[in-house]
Amino acid sequence: MEHAHDLIIRNATVYDGTGAPGIRADIAIDADRITETGTVRGRAAIEIDAHGLAAAPGFIDVHSHDDFHVLTEPDVTHNVLQGITTVIVGNCGFGAAPAAAAQVQMRAIQEVGREFEPWEGYAGYLETVDANPPSLNVAALVGHHTVRRAAMGGVGKRPPTPDELASMRRMVAEGMEAGAVGMSTGLVYEPGRYSDTTEVVALAEEVAARNGIYVSHMRNEGDGLLDAVRETIGIGESAGCGVEISHHKAVGKGNWGKVARSLEMIEAAQARGADVTADQYPYTARSTMLFALVQNGTFGSGSGGAMGRSSPDEVLLCSVPGAPELEGRTLQSFVEEWDLPGEDAANRLLSERGNDVLVAAFGMDEGDVRMVMAHPSTMIGTDGLDRGSRPHPRAWGTYPRILGKYVRDEGILALEDAVWRMTGFPAKKFGLRDRGVIRAGAFADIVLFDPATVADRATFEDPRHGPTGMPHVIVNGQFVVRDGRHTHARAGTALRRDPA
Ligand code: ZN
Ligand code: CU
Repeated sequence: MEHAHDLIIRNATVYDGTGAPGIRADIAIDADRITETGTVRGRAAIEIDAHGLAAAPGFIDVHSHDDFHVLTEPDVTHNVLQGITTVIVGNCGFGAAPAAAAQVQMRAIQEVGREFEPWEGYAGYLETVDANPPSLNVAALVGHHTVRRAAMGGVGKRPPTPDELASMRRMVAEGMEAGAVGMSTGLVYEPGRYSDTTEVVALAEEVAARNGIYVSHMRNEGDGLLDAVRETIGIGESAGCGVEISHHKAVGKGNWGKVARSLEMIEAAQARGADVTADQYPYTARSTMLFALVQNGTFGSGSGGAMGRSSPDEVLLCSVPGAPELEGRTLQSFVEEWDLPGEDAANRLLSERGNDVLVAAFGMDEGDVRMVMAHPSTMIGTDGLDRGSRPHPRAWGTYPRILGKYVRDEGILALEDAVWRMTGFPAKKFGLRDRGVIRAGAFADIVLFDPATVADRATFEDPRHGPTGMPHVIVNGQFVVRDGRHTHARAGTALRRDPA
């Protein structure tokens, strides 16, 4: 019988997100779902000839900081152009609720526009997203910093009292009941760095009781990397929930190569039956607050402390509120201008410009990046912070960089494996039902790209560019990118954890 579909993608090479190799097929879409794959008969209101293009599930960015960005700039251009159809926000302990604490906690990343009423808890945050839909889907983690700040009335440099801990547990439980996919910590940042393991385990129990996962920017990614991995895995095992190690890496030259050991620790945990995985962005520079690097001893005389070592000439200013003319300069240029050691120059910058300066800082090894990427425990996330004129290019280039540089040019991953790590793998880990897969019945989140030409164009010098070779992106059955252009469709929705 002739059947009229809303949309048919014809003759694509379909990578379905399960890790299976690509096969030539058509995809039919009706409303927000995929309704047929294979050889699709009949016609559609819109038909795309995808000959020469790969079709994959839309990418799921498991490490996003766009909690506010999705509301204030709902095009979320830096994500959508690179094929991301779902962001998981609330990473590194920076969560969206309670709203007042979130506003303080996330000041360096993004402010919420005045048009948004402060929301009540995570239920309120997810409802606010639904009422003001962005161009992509949003799932949330409960952020440890934000609940700790709210419960303790600021940056408590001490353990919580029993009442404060009970209050934090209630906030985590509220988030999980509202549909958050887990809880994150950032144990190098304020105020999470003042928490001990038992505090985190107590909160992770609330997550485990509701089938969520524990996600962590660990206490140490430098000399103490392996101890931090041990703590992180132990928190999951004590509480009884799965673990996601954020941006798996080793920082500082003295620590290069240690990821071989941390990968073995992940393998050993998996062999015990623990659900331990990690994510990665494909660059040798991290990006964070300059304040946090100084606080963690990055430029001191030691080995670089919890965030590892970067030298002043490896540090680029990304965002300097009130002084955009400084963006793009290196910390070394201030060392020379002021004739100060690196740490003193950084402190003078912070006292003159405030603590919300964001930087990119090199300090990782390309060989480590490849080793982590090739390991089966690794999925992909951007950790993007699209703030200022010179953001770290990962905010714009992560996915096409992997598909171009690491898959096509260097052969680190097979294309179907890379797609799995961007789609089916994160959907499974983060409990997103009917996402991250191309099959009849799944949501129609789809990206079309040319494996022969796809490439990132975002560089440290000139970061704010989408990719080439990625012409179409579809969210819930609607084009959000068509022929390489953002359509401004607000096709996204808030996603809530699959309770199963
Ligand atoms: Zn982080
Ligand atoms: Cu992060």
